[in-house]
Amino acid sequence: MIPRILVTGSNGQLGTCIKDLDDNKFDIKYASSSDLDITNKQDVKNFFEQQKIDWCINCAAYTAVDNAESDYDKAYEVNVSGVKNLAESCKEYGVKLVHISTDFVFDGNNNIPYKESDKTNPIGAYGETKLKGEKEVIQIFKEYFIIRTSWLYSEHGSNFLKTMLRLSKDKTQLGVVGDQIGTPTYAKDLAKAIFHIIANDISDYGIYHYSNNGVASWYDFAKAIFDISNIDIELNNISTVQFPTPAKRPHFSVLDKTKIETTLKLKTPYWRDSLITAIQNMKNE
Ligand SMILES: NC(=O)c1ccc[n+]([C@@H]2O[C@H](COP(=O)([O-])OP(=O)(O)OC[C@H]3O[C@@H](n4cnc5c(N)ncnc54)[C@H](OP(=O)(O)O)[C@@H]3O)[C@@H](O)[C@H]2O)c1
Repeated sequence: MIPRILVTGSNGQLGTCIKDLDDNKFDIKYASSSDLDITNKQDVKNFFEQQKIDWCINCAAYTAVDNAESDYDKAYEVNVSGVKNLAESCKEYGVKLVHISTDFVFDGNNNIPYKESDKTNPIGAYGETKLKGEKEVIQIFKEYFIIRTSWLYSEHGSNFLKTMLRLSKDKTQLGVVGDQIGTPTYAKDLAKAIFHIIANDISDYGIYHYSNNGVASWYDFAKAIFDISNIDIELNNISTVQFPTPAKRPHFSVLDKTKIETTLKLKTPYWRDSLITAIQNMKNE
């Protein structure tokens, strides 16, 4: 039988990438924030009762990292209470959950890639609420995949790739932070990984790390964007202290992908290769 899937937060970046890749192998219902507000417990319950689904992919989240510092209650409502509502309904209606989390659950003090079992210690409100959301899921039931990812970009939504391309239109020079290290991740690669889990009806539930492969700073990422796009701009490598933001960010948030690669037999493409694909896809749009 074709798996029936609900995608929440479907108008966001990841939700839209999932839509782009939808080739009707699954029966997917897309629910934007106006179709289904995950913070409304009763609406979530009613939705699950009416729509017979096998899987829920939760792309709904409060993702404004800096705003979360001053808007903690709202971030909590979506990233913790909303996630709890989904997990409870998943449990009640026998639905498996793919929930997306973040590298921001770590403090960034590691100097080797973070494993799923490493100690979490978020240094900002966004990461704190995302971690609490994970804990709700884990407490409620067992049939979940929590996928922590990092530095998502794509041709959709607002993201670093699009910001750099926009800024390059009216600037001749840019300063980009070079002392935060992580891995850019093409959201379509993540969408494919999620489809892989569902298509193979994998039941090795738990927490997994998924990002593209390799390591980069934001400066490296920007440089690659401009090199690949043949954009001539003066790019300066600046430090975090030269670019203060309301929320602190981990200095190092590379994720160890061994578990997802071995247990789920999933390949994680090298970040620069995926960036070339994304830029090509943008040109073709
Ligand atoms: N973007 C990154 O760099 C990054 C990195 C690591 C992890 N992640 C995680 O990856 C996931 C997907 O991120 P993304 O980049 O696709 O985020 P996004 O573009 O900000 O999309 C989030 C979506 O959630 C929706 N939403 C917000 N509140 C909601 C609610 N109460 N009920 C239902 N929907 C609601 C938003 O709708 P409205 O726009 O209508 O509010 C939006 O469409 C998130 O869990 C995020 O934490 C992202």
